[in-house]
Amino acid sequence: MKRFARILLLVLLVGGLWLALKPTLGKHRFTFLPFRWSEYIDLMDFWLNFGAFGILGATAWLAFGSFAKAFRLILLMTGFITLLNVILELAQSSIPGRAVDIADVWAGLLGCVLGIFSSMALQLWSIRKKADVTAPQVLFLDQTGRLGGAELMLLDIAAARAADSEVLLFQDGEFRTALENVGVKTRVCTLGEEASVVDKQAGLKRILRSIPSILELMLQIVQAARSFDLVYANTAKSLVIGGPAARLAGRPLVFHLHDIIADGHFSTLNQQALVLCANFCASSVIANSEATKEAFIACGGRAELCTVVPNGFHIPAQRTSAETMKSLRASLGIPSAAWTVLMAGRLAHWKGQHVLLEALKSVPAAHAVLLGDALFTDEDRQYARQLHAQAEELGGRVHFAGFQKETMPYFDMADAVVHASVYPEPFGRVIVEGMLAGKPVIASRAGGAAEIIQHEHTGLLVSPGNATELADALLRLQNNSAFASSIAHQAQQTAQDVYAISAVQEKIESVIRQVSGRHQPESTSSIIPSPCAA
Ligand code: UDP
Ligand code: GLC
Repeated sequence: MKRFARILLLVLLVGGLWLALKPTLGKHRFTFLPFRWSEYIDLMDFWLNFGAFGILGATAWLAFGSFAKAFRLILLMTGFITLLNVILELAQSSIPGRAVDIADVWAGLLGCVLGIFSSMALQLWSIRKKADVTAPQVLFLDQTGRLGGAELMLLDIAAARAADSEVLLFQDGEFRTALENVGVKTRVCTLGEEASVVDKQAGLKRILRSIPSILELMLQIVQAARSFDLVYANTAKSLVIGGPAARLAGRPLVFHLHDIIADGHFSTLNQQALVLCANFCASSVIANSEATKEAFIACGGRAELCTVVPNGFHIPAQRTSAETMKSLRASLGIPSAAWTVLMAGRLAHWKGQHVLLEALKSVPAAHAVLLGDALFTDEDRQYARQLHAQAEELGGRVHFAGFQKETMPYFDMADAVVHASVYPEPFGRVIVEGMLAGKPVIASRAGGAAEIIQHEHTGLLVSPGNATELADALLRLQNNSAFASSIAHQAQQTAQDVYAISAVQEKIESVIRQVSGRHQPESTSSIIPSPCAA
């Protein structure tokens, strides 16, 4: 069919050309684009040409299967034919008795310019549009080599677009190995000694001392960013260093905000620096919860930059076997029938492991597993030591499992999952992980946790830092197993519906494409319902 249409097109092109030129060559004068309306009715030849162009266009459409191509072809034809018209008009003026019709010449030139140039402009536009559909090349930045929640989220984001991404880390570690294991390219540009001790609470003196190494890293990022379409800062420090670097490299920046910018989490100076950087350097801010977004805005962050995208999770087809859970309990030293709560997450004061240990005093016979380690600061390491001391008072009911890459068996062998952050949790991956494991979850009523859990339906919420309330909630779950399994079941359903990784990856990809000015390919441009729980 296409082949036939292409042959017909060629015939029509020759015929159309003849139709267009015939009146100019013949006895009658032809005005291709007359100025007076009445002339259009009189000009039979014009209408013949017009009809020929119509047939020509339709055939071109059939031949190329694209209206846009056919339209471009007609424009081009119009341009060339009117150009020929003008040349012939001028040539005929040498025939005795025939003068140049200047209006005809101008009209012809106008038709020529409009036809040829608009066809070329359309062609260029469509080439650019086609190029825009390719995936943007993204340089992700993250300050740590350790595996915190923000890094686990980035691991999934980068893995989904491994062919078009690279992750630049400010520190080497197991995060780089994890990225490389899923096929993501990485590079490590280390921060100098002075700068790596600048944490969320750092004051002006510490920051000033770290300036030279920060500048050095910044220049490395500027250089790296030039080979990418977009820079994506995944952590606060990577925004402060990577934001200005992206600007210098002339690349747009997306900032994934995993933290609540408020007292308790950041010093005042750091809050201001963060918001300033985000406002001036970022084209978009992805907040991991409404609470995170609101804190950013309350600190002076631009609301119009924000999109809320929660963390996403892989939903495993199979959970842990009874045999594995039994041997895991045994290896931790938990009696096989003991009612056990799991608290997963890095050991840090604001995560509130001490609150659980305090509550455990009032929950007789309950055992607790603390999964995780002190990941980031000296204060965290000091806190971990305090926890060990506090645990001793509980007579062997607290089990420190350390940091584990494979966390599912720990969730599966527990009877309940506890989250006890004393400051508002920005999101709280461990809460969703507990829900997905089909366990009743108790969480601190603040921040992202309060968005994830609907009290009494998909879990229990207690006041942050309140060990008595936490103990009461634990006793309720321990003594009412029907209630415990009913909320656990509802929680599992909700978590599976709301936090599936694929929908979250699509949302993030759409922000990346929007910021980079690339169009979403048709297959992935579907409208995704907001996965964030109301
Ligand atoms: N986690 C882990 N191994 C451990 C302890 C925790 O992989 O030993 C994971 C946990 O499953 C969760 C993440 O670390 O996915 C912690 O994320 P969350 O958002 O709860 O807190 P964050 O530490 O990021 O503030
Ligand atoms: C940060 C937050 C945590 C969140 C994680 C992933 O580490 O502290 O609440 O779940 O990022 O967004």
